[in-house]
Amino acid sequence: MIRKTIFLLSIFLISSLSMYSQVNNPWVVPDEYQKMENPFEADKSSLSIGESFYATHCKTCHGETGMGDGLTSKTLDVNPSDLTLDDLDTQKDGEVYYKILIGRDEMHAYERLIDEEDIWHVVNYIRTFYPEE
Ligand code: HEC
Repeated sequence: MIRKTIFLLSIFLISSLSMYSQVNNPWVVPDEYQKMENPFEADKSSLSIGESFYATHCKTCHGETGMGDGLTSKTLDVNPSDLTLDDLDTQKDGEVYYKILIGRDEMHAYERLIDEEDIWHVVNYIRTFYPEE
């Protein structure tokens, strides 16, 4: 009985801690990245390169339409960000690029997995998830 209580209590603590860190832990992007411009226009060829990298590397967590509901998302402590929200739309390309390049916790760092150029294409592609006005 006591064991079970301790077990349940620790589950509760761990889950509230991870929720706390997600809400109260702003993701700080260094100035030099904030200022970076995307060298590629979001034209057809850029979007199609971005789409194929997204399908290989990102879809499993962020989901087919970017809502953070991919298959792997259920196994994580932190929910993959919903990429269709204002929150992403209001960030500069350089900020989004930095987050993909360097990662944080369960969001991997893609600097060794995807060429820098292609990360910019992925940035263009995930912008298409934002609903058009
Ligand atoms: C293993 C699951 C996983 C994979 C694979 C993954 N992500 Fe993430 N991603 C996350 C999680 C979890 C977060 C939230 C991290 C945090 O807030 O600490 C996140 C956050 C982000 C953010 C920040 C969103 C914001 O609102 O600031 C972006 C952008 C992003 N991911 C894009 C991508 C892209 C592009 C790929 C593929 C190249 C990718 N992710 C692959 C789990 C994943």
